[in-house]
Amino acid sequence: MAFAQRLAIIAGGVGGIGSATGKLLHSHGAKIALLYAPFEAARVQPTIQSTYGPDSGTQAYECDITSPTSVSAAFAAIAKAQIAFPSILINTAGYVNLTPLESTPPEDSLKHYMINLYGPTLTSQAFARLYLAAAQQAKLQGAAVPGGRIVSLASQAAFVALHAHGAYCASKAGLIGLTKCMASEWGPLGITANTVSPGPVWTELGKKAWSDRGVREAYQAAVRSIVPSSPDFEGRVD
Ligand SMILES: NC(=O)c1ccc[n+]([C@@H]2O[C@H](COP(=O)([O-])OP(=O)(O)OC[C@H]3O[C@@H](n4cnc5c(N)ncnc54)[C@H](OP(=O)(O)O)[C@@H]3O)[C@@H](O)[C@H]2O)c1
Repeated sequence: MAFAQRLAIIAGGVGGIGSATGKLLHSHGAKIALLYAPFEAARVQPTIQSTYGPDSGTQAYECDITSPTSVSAAFAAIAKAQIAFPSILINTAGYVNLTPLESTPPEDSLKHYMINLYGPTLTSQAFARLYLAAAQQAKLQGAAVPGGRIVSLASQAAFVALHAHGAYCASKAGLIGLTKCMASEWGPLGITANTVSPGPVWTELGKKAWSDRGVREAYQAAVRSIVPSSPDFEGRVD
């Protein structure tokens, strides 16, 4: 199995893309640690059961990714549990709320930046420290060190101007900038960092933002202005 003896930590692990990603990694042998926000607690066990099945060994840790204290506590608990080598971090926690730019409330701009940019900053820093400590220990023991991998969910919205998406576009463009610096600074230490930029996917977040046909068509037209071959997602709408 490609990821046997590796731990994948999934921030936003109870969400739609987080669950699908975790399921795939688990099917390739990875052990899974889900990070969930305090307000998602009721969804944790049902998601673990439906996504991973009984006896999967999947662990869940309460973690508000916008709180340094909460992130530190969650990563300390993961380190203490010693489930497997902590080699993968998937940043999928996210937030979107469409409002015209001139009337976006300050607190809503901040919420985008906190969840979509500051949160991945904190989780990635905590992961890098955890990975580097584990790698050092493995080297001392003469054991093989798996590569570190950080994958963060950005968005096609990072690359185009979308009406009423100002805070979301900015947060995702910022995440790409952050990831380039993580790759540059941590690559030589053994951690690769990449973003993935989907178009609309019909999760709760996707439905909230892009259920309206006009909004969807404008989104698709904007993306096609830079990627003419961008696939038609119309057939995948509920
Ligand atoms: N779906 C799309 O069309 C699409 C397209 C491009 C990029 N993306 C990006 O892909 C990522 C995953 O999105 P998704 O579609 O899977 O959405 P989702 O199902 O809503 O999952 C996002 C998860 O993040 C959680 N979360 C929110 N605030 C958090 C916090 N402070 N701490 C920890 N967790 C928090 C959410 O909890 P609550 O549900 O309780 O808020 C939710 O479980 C996001 O970054 C999103 O921006 C999605």
